[in-house]
Amino acid sequence: MSTNTTSAYSDFHLQFIAGEWQTGKDDSTNTNTNPYNGDTLVEIQQATKDQLNEAYDAATQAQEAWAKQTPAERSAVLYKVVNILDQRQEEIVDWLIKESGSTRIKAMVEFGATRAITLEAATFPNRVHGEIRPSNTPGKENFIYREPIGVVAVISPWNFPLHLTQRSIAPALALGNAVVLKPASDTPVTGGLLLAKVFEEAGLPKGLLNVVVGSGSEIGDAIVEHKAPSLVSFTGSTSVGKHIGELANGGEYIKQVALELGGNSPFVVLKDANIEQAVKAAAFGKFLHQGQICIAINRVIVEDEIYDDFVERFLAHVKTLNVGDPNKQDTAVGPIINEKQVKSLKEKIAKAQEEGAKMILSGEIDGQVVPPHIFTEVTREMDLSRNEVFGPLVGIIRAKDEDDALSIANDSMYGLSSAVFTADMQKGLRFARGIRAGMTHINDISVNDESNTPFGGEKNSGIGRFNGEWVLEEFTRTHWISMQNEPREYPF
Ligand code: TAP
Repeated sequence: MSTNTTSAYSDFHLQFIAGEWQTGKDDSTNTNTNPYNGDTLVEIQQATKDQLNEAYDAATQAQEAWAKQTPAERSAVLYKVVNILDQRQEEIVDWLIKESGSTRIKAMVEFGATRAITLEAATFPNRVHGEIRPSNTPGKENFIYREPIGVVAVISPWNFPLHLTQRSIAPALALGNAVVLKPASDTPVTGGLLLAKVFEEAGLPKGLLNVVVGSGSEIGDAIVEHKAPSLVSFTGSTSVGKHIGELANGGEYIKQVALELGGNSPFVVLKDANIEQAVKAAAFGKFLHQGQICIAINRVIVEDEIYDDFVERFLAHVKTLNVGDPNKQDTAVGPIINEKQVKSLKEKIAKAQEEGAKMILSGEIDGQVVPPHIFTEVTREMDLSRNEVFGPLVGIIRAKDEDDALSIANDSMYGLSSAVFTADMQKGLRFARGIRAGMTHINDISVNDESNTPFGGEKNSGIGRFNGEWVLEEFTRTHWISMQNEPREYPF
């Protein structure tokens, strides 16, 4: 192992533009803090629009040569990234805990998912392929080429910063594109600068990956509207996603968008389900990362016959969860990312009570640590059911029967992930197919992401799919080239 890989990365106060670590030139500063204890981790001078332009120029310039490198050369960089991730696992997990408030359990889950998508992406250079299609014109051959899309703008969120950033940048780079990335302001290190260090160490040529740290409200529009990117890959809230979609299609330059937005995942427990297993699943799928996951369980829907039994056992189980210091091995629920989110959770707790939900579990909010809150007798009209919670609060809805459960599950403007528990797999499959969502898991939680299966949503949860073949299409462009091998007869 070289010294380079054993010494911890530093210089996280700098931007990574055109392959150089440089000081941000804006007069504003990003103060990056630990959400559990408020410690300042790093202060970053933010980037100006001129620096953003510099990043796009570098990306545009570097991309052409990168696209011409052999698939094996591009794969090799990605495989090196996997090696470096492995060597630096402890350092990376530590950053996820201190910067994003990840519990140790969640940080390990996130590290695993990041590693998996990088490994998958390393296979993409050799998997991308074109087609030859028959022609109805005599003497013509149709070739369909799949080419790099060019420059990809990536805007990522703070909740799974490492994974949700890598899920865009690793495939983009593997497929011969260049990237300009803006990480979320709460997680500039794990959402960007740390990955830039890893790719730099892996030998990625300069200019292909640029990390521009700045506030979304300040430089977000400029990132999307710039002429350079052909695709904007955005992961975050539905409101910002809609804005980005409008900008990308209503501005001077039309561009493609991949939008991974909010969710409101139903978790349905039918009367024949293994209740004990459903209880454990509901607790993990709801409270992992304090519920701050787009595919977290947002609505627990239980058939009437087993409702009371489920509630009693769920309450007993959730009471056993350890809450507090995310660094401790057995902590299940750590801190909320920032004060703004804590405030919105307090408002949701008050609103749930106002609307008549019964709060059967609560607790003191200590700094940014919000303990689990459970509400019963929640109806589909209540705020807890209608909107994404993004916190450790859960409402349990009573369904009259299976049909009612399906109708409640589909009563949402979101359609990202979902889950159903039943002992009857045929019933489970029928139910799953009735759900209008991008993903449904039978006898498991809604929180699932595998690097070789399509991840994405319907309705207000977004456009496009990540992972496997699906991202391969998303991050390349299709080019039909026809070859007329003999003179064609024209009507005039
Ligand atoms: P957002 O506020 O939407 O932030 C996401 C990213 O967008 C951040 O990098 C943010 O930058 C940036 N941004 C903010 N305003 C922008 C603008 N006008 N133009 C361009 N970029 C802008 O969401 P969040 O608070 O990070 O995450 C919570 C939400 O994201 C939840 O609704 C959750 O469901 C959703 N989410 C969805 C998924 C998937 S996979 N579907 C994954 C994670 C999160 P700043 O940080 O600088 O504001």
